[in-house]
Amino acid sequence: MSASKDYHLEKEEEGKGFDYHLFKRLWAYVTPYRKLFYLSLLMLVLGTLFQLYIPYVSKNAIDAFMMREHRYTSSAVEAKGYYRLDEGLWIKEDKGGAFSLTRRDGHFVLTDGLLSFRLSQEQIRELRVDDIQGIDKSVLILLVLLFSVFFTNYIQVYFSNKLGQKVIYDIRTGLFRKVLTLPLKFYDHNPTGRIVTRITNDTENLNEFFTSAVTSIVKDILLLIGIIGFMLFLSSQLTGYSLFVLPVIVLATALFRFFDRKAYRKVRVRLARINAFLAEHLSGMSVIQLFNRETSKYEEFKKTNHSYYRATLQQLTVFAVFRPTMDILFYIALCVVIWFGSKDFVSGIMTFGVLYAFINYIDMFFQPLRDLSEKFDIVQNALASAEKIFKLLDEKASEIEPSQEGPEIRDGSVEFESVTFGYNEGVEVLKDISFNIRPGEKVAIVGETGAGKTSLIGILTALYPIQKGRILIDGIPIDAYQVHALRKQVAVVLQDVFIFSGDVVDNIRLFDNAVSREEVIDAAKYVNVDHLISRFEKGYDTMLNERASTLSAGERQLIALARAVVRDPKILVLDEATANIDPVTEAFIQDAMEKVTQGRTVITIAHRLSTIRNADRIFVFHKGRLVESGTHLELFAKNGLYTQLYRLQYQLNE
Ligand code: UTP
Ligand code: MG
Repeated sequence: MSASKDYHLEKEEEGKGFDYHLFKRLWAYVTPYRKLFYLSLLMLVLGTLFQLYIPYVSKNAIDAFMMREHRYTSSAVEAKGYYRLDEGLWIKEDKGGAFSLTRRDGHFVLTDGLLSFRLSQEQIRELRVDDIQGIDKSVLILLVLLFSVFFTNYIQVYFSNKLGQKVIYDIRTGLFRKVLTLPLKFYDHNPTGRIVTRITNDTENLNEFFTSAVTSIVKDILLLIGIIGFMLFLSSQLTGYSLFVLPVIVLATALFRFFDRKAYRKVRVRLARINAFLAEHLSGMSVIQLFNRETSKYEEFKKTNHSYYRATLQQLTVFAVFRPTMDILFYIALCVVIWFGSKDFVSGIMTFGVLYAFINYIDMFFQPLRDLSEKFDIVQNALASAEKIFKLLDEKASEIEPSQEGPEIRDGSVEFESVTFGYNEGVEVLKDISFNIRPGEKVAIVGETGAGKTSLIGILTALYPIQKGRILIDGIPIDAYQVHALRKQVAVVLQDVFIFSGDVVDNIRLFDNAVSREEVIDAAKYVNVDHLISRFEKGYDTMLNERASTLSAGERQLIALARAVVRDPKILVLDEATANIDPVTEAFIQDAMEKVTQGRTVITIAHRLSTIRNADRIFVFHKGRLVESGTHLELFAKNGLYTQLYRLQYQLNE
């Protein structure tokens, strides 16, 4: 069993975190589109710089134009002709004093310390024309900046999404290509749901990583550095005061990360449980209803659902504590800025513009902090997904190495030389099997259930590798054939016929457009399924659903037979359905069988009496061994296992 363990894709497991090799492998997927990546990164940096610059421009507008101290020489004042009426002014002016503009009682007043003059709004505008122009210019700059932020954001979001989609498209395609080449042994150990999750959910997690996490993390870090830079540039002291909450933030974030990770993992595991439960029970619905298990299954689902609900609540609680904590820290930092900043402003150490910019920057500072810690989930998740995806991509493809060029199958003889085979190490399903089937011979294989009959087909068509011995077709070992050529000439009708979603024609030619519709219809007529198909509402264009619940067992068998015939194989292997088929269909199948076996080597795993009677030779399998072989009469005369089986299984049914 130890070897089979390698085939298990891990269930919910913890990602390793920041693994360098993981990033390197992911990067390999980005490389073909690195132009997109760099462009989006450039836009991100530009956008962040523009955004950072906005409060600084406002600060300039406030300090340079709104709050500017104004001094006018007497001659400038005189030239405006404001106070010709006032004699006193002339006196002052003669002494060469300067006038300054100040606010008093809600009005602007021009004063030189002794004399003051109140100005009208028009007069002020005229006097401060430079300031007003400066403000206009600043607003224009702000508008340009805002537009640039929007524009760079737009391009960045578009490109990073395009990049993400391209990358996951490649990964998804790569995964499916891989999945097509994996040995069947892999599927014996990995539930379909898990593989589907790899190709859909896990790739989607990666997409999120590329589109939202990477970019916003880079942006957040840039913003944080930029904000601290601007703040230090404006006032190192106030920066120190306002960032005194930083250690608390770091601690709160670390705590949040710890609890969130725990809660998040729980949520994911429980959601996976719901998915698994649903997948299983939806496909087993008929059994549930037939055996009246609805109520107990409902209760079971309620429990699973409730545990998921509790986990999400737990995660919500973590967020409910973290977000307000960050808000409180933000307001504390803001209070500190206002408190110290206002004092500095009052005492003239700091301009009002700087205070304004600071308040803005503090506001800006907390957004990336909140973001960063929350984006961590996405990264963690994506890396765990990446690990699982790469694990699947690293699965070893089929152990049977197909030779590139090989012979064609001409005669159709089949020879087994001491073949031993097991699905898992240590458990032999077929033991030391040797036989020789001549071209055109019809062999029936019988044996109790689990004797290894179906397994024989798996190894003959190279679906599973054998452990010992050789299998030869036309005297050539099967590994010398190209796998495709081998499977083209050895057509198999399996016990359970799988019907794909598609119409009847496609189900017979298996979506191989090289096979024409006419050929399909000919094959259908040949195997007597044509009249059944014509009974369908849309004939050959009738859509058959995936699970083929609309087809009867007999119809399915005949379609499978048509599938095999359409490929005109040299060797036909039939695993008869154990299900009973009505006498009319049985007759059709029997007639079809007689036709399709003409000129072909046929190995039939027989469950029907007619098949056994028509066989040239019968092989009897027992617990993985070929115990008896010969014609019906020969074997019957032996009075051995065959006779027993025959009596039990067939005679009673007669
Ligand atoms: P087979 O599937 O070859 O049995 O399994 P069979 O003779 O065709 O039986 P019926 O008549 O259709 O019922 C042979 C043994 O191989 C195991 C089975 O459990 C059985 O014991 N087996 C089969 C695996 O271990 N893995 C597989 O994927 C299939
Ligand atoms: Mg079987």
